[in-house]
Amino acid sequence: MDYYTKAVEYRKELHKIPEVGMKEFKTTEYILNVLRGMGYEVETALETGVIAYKKGIDDSVSIAFRSDIDALAIQEETKSEFKSIHEGYMHGCGHDYHMAVLLGFAEYLKDIETSCSIVFIFQPAEESPGGARPIVESGKLDKFNITEIYGLHIWPYLNQGRIGVKPGPIMAMSGEFELDLIGKGGHGAVPNSTIDPIYISSQVISSLQSIVSRNIEPIDDAVVTVGYIKGGSVHNVIPGKVEMGGTIRAFRQEVYDRIKERITTICEGIAKSYEMEIEVRITDFYKPVDNDEKLTEEFIKSQGDAIEIVKPYMTGEDFSFYQNEYPGVFFFLGSKNEEKGLVHPLHNSKFQSEDPVIKNGIDSYINLLKYKDII
Ligand code: NI
Repeated sequence: MDYYTKAVEYRKELHKIPEVGMKEFKTTEYILNVLRGMGYEVETALETGVIAYKKGIDDSVSIAFRSDIDALAIQEETKSEFKSIHEGYMHGCGHDYHMAVLLGFAEYLKDIETSCSIVFIFQPAEESPGGARPIVESGKLDKFNITEIYGLHIWPYLNQGRIGVKPGPIMAMSGEFELDLIGKGGHGAVPNSTIDPIYISSQVISSLQSIVSRNIEPIDDAVVTVGYIKGGSVHNVIPGKVEMGGTIRAFRQEVYDRIKERITTICEGIAKSYEMEIEVRITDFYKPVDNDEKLTEEFIKSQGDAIEIVKPYMTGEDFSFYQNEYPGVFFFLGSKNEEKGLVHPLHNSKFQSEDPVIKNGIDSYINLLKYKDII
């Protein structure tokens, strides 16, 4: 079987056994076995995840390629013949395709000489809690002397056959906030004896929306979204507490820091004015995915007509932690196919693509290595 046919098989098997972040034990076992079968040197990345190595003619430097391996806790609703056998879990972000691409690429390279070494990173927990950072911090990649790193994401917002990329920032930095509005509960008909956190939460939501519209320069990109609000359960009771949470996105550190500062100040101000307390917790997540200018230029040239220069997206990716260490390029593998109804977004229970996209992914890496005279 050729590398593509094999990769399609790998994807089917992996699609059946979706596992969430840091619990990808069966997935890791599967990848280890496949790579060992190809003759690669392998080791586990963390408790889950795999790092494989191919020695080059010059083994003093390496180029790394990364796939994420985790799935989502959603129930699959596709009509696929090889559906998830893990009830309530699904490869709804297409990481099964990413693994198939990287395994197919490894299959293609296994008997070919490469002018430098190649490192394959099968990373756990991209969705949550993040696997790139602990891998980088573990020092396990240090011995390879990585000079460049590449990664991709299947992209149902871009037509099948297209490859989307841009130099510079392509995906946003992200963080999450949690707010506890601590008021004073009481009878819904005697509001004057309470401090009503439900009413006050509406003030908080409105004021948070002023951050992007009034505190951030109009030419800077930023998002503040309140994603959940929990409080109260009875018609005539004012609850003592309301919990809210949301996400922050930006491309520049100054903008991100300014948003954090404004969330805190707004909550302090509202709390003071209503004689209550608002606890604010903000967690920084991922840095922006920032494509190296020179490498992106080379990558674009290596892909011929398939390239489409895309706008940056406000979604986040922990690929950014590798780019803090090594220059790299992250790109989108188009999978939208309206004729075939393959239009569902990522994280949707009906998300699906088709096999040729796997070949497009593998070939994008092969074309890059050919362009760079590595194979
Ligand atoms: Ni994803």
